[in-house]
Amino acid sequence: MLNAKEIFAAEGSKAVSLRLISKAELASLPAALKLQAQSLGFEASPLSLMPVLSANGAVQEFLVGAPSTDADPFALGAISSKLPPGTYECAAATHLTALGWALELYRYDPFRPAEAKKVKLVLPKGVDEARLLREVDATFLVRDLINTPANILGPDELEAAARKIARAHKAAITVISGKKLEKEFPLIHVVGAAATRAPRLIDFTWGNPKHPKVTLVGKGVVFDTGGLDIKPSSSMLLMKKDMGGAANVLGLAQMVMEAKLPVRLRVLVPAVENAIAGDAFRPGDVFKTRKGLTVEIGNTDAEGRLILADALALADEEAPDLLIDMATLTGAARVALGPDLPPFYTDDAALAASLNLHGMKENDPLWQLPLWRPYYSLIETPIADLNNAGAGGFAGSITAALFLCRFVEKAKAYAHFDIFGWVPNTKPGRPKGGEAQAMRALFAVIAERFAK
Ligand code: BES
Ligand code: ZN
Ligand code: ZN
Repeated sequence: MLNAKEIFAAEGSKAVSLRLISKAELASLPAALKLQAQSLGFEASPLSLMPVLSANGAVQEFLVGAPSTDADPFALGAISSKLPPGTYECAAATHLTALGWALELYRYDPFRPAEAKKVKLVLPKGVDEARLLREVDATFLVRDLINTPANILGPDELEAAARKIARAHKAAITVISGKKLEKEFPLIHVVGAAATRAPRLIDFTWGNPKHPKVTLVGKGVVFDTGGLDIKPSSSMLLMKKDMGGAANVLGLAQMVMEAKLPVRLRVLVPAVENAIAGDAFRPGDVFKTRKGLTVEIGNTDAEGRLILADALALADEEAPDLLIDMATLTGAARVALGPDLPPFYTDDAALAASLNLHGMKENDPLWQLPLWRPYYSLIETPIADLNNAGAGGFAGSITAALFLCRFVEKAKAYAHFDIFGWVPNTKPGRPKGGEAQAMRALFAVIAERFAK
């Protein structure tokens, strides 16, 4: 497997240069080069490549068709997968070019190991190497966790992944399971009850207790069958990714700790498998949550908000300065915004503005959807405080967000992210498969909000 450090070469390393060239500039090339371009059919169309050979046949440089001005910021970097092995430098490269270069080269290959192609980029001038490596490492971690099949990644393995990250930064970790879980986190217990792999709540804390408290909560459903409200096979196919929220908060936590941001970080991951057996929870069941609110089960497939409710209630008890949750929570979010643009929800206008700004800057786009209180009526039920599934299938991502809000009262700021965690079709820097979403944007927001 590829490691971030192997992708970049130090400034000053011997390298083949990548020279951007526009169609207009093509006409003013020296005659011999122009001829070569003509015979190779190179027209400098965006991101097309042409090697320029020296007299002894060695590649001297590559001409690269300049990307169009509206191209994905990763597009230039993503030529990494099209170049032959070697070390390259590119004067036009930015931070996002370098990031795209690395993220493009990711492969999930433990079951079909392949030699990683060695295409290195000389660190572009002015790029913060520590930041770059932090982002690449965290993204690879998130992708690996999501891509790992559910037979290999269960609650135990998710716990092991969290322990590894916590240990690397000397964070204090506790994991609650068994009778204690049943008593203190009834919904996490209930959702995980039918699985042979036991449910648990992973909880780690890092940093100076005097610093502002930032708490991250991630949905860790290692596989979502839908429960008794079983999913059709086409919807179940990708459900190994239902721990995408957990993967993303672990990646974000790793970045925060590596960068030593001046915050007291806490990470909560309810880890469960939503399985089917005689002791599965049922539609129509009613449970009392950690917070004391009662929930009627309208649909056992709306399990994410149940486990998050108990984890958010715990997070909220210490009134954190910032509370974030990330979850592959609803299909409705995909219907609304598609796979690439995760919606977020918050009442904090300054936080929303900062998320929008940094989402764009980091090429990690996000879109705010409304916590439209009148839709609470869609999750009302005569027999409990809340129903876990909205009526009529309307505004599914909003009603899920409203459900979660009921468990957050004391946090000074709160935002919920309904992510997809998956790239269905390969795009520049984003190979098909598990994906980190909102992680880099959130890091930038946290770094800015709690700057020393
Ligand atoms: N894990 C799914 C949501 C999901 C589905 C995320 C597909 C990404 C892609 C979640 O647990 C779920 O099944 N939600 C239901 C809720 C409904 C029953 C109220 C949904 O969105 O259909
Ligand atoms: Zn579900
Ligand atoms: Zn789910």
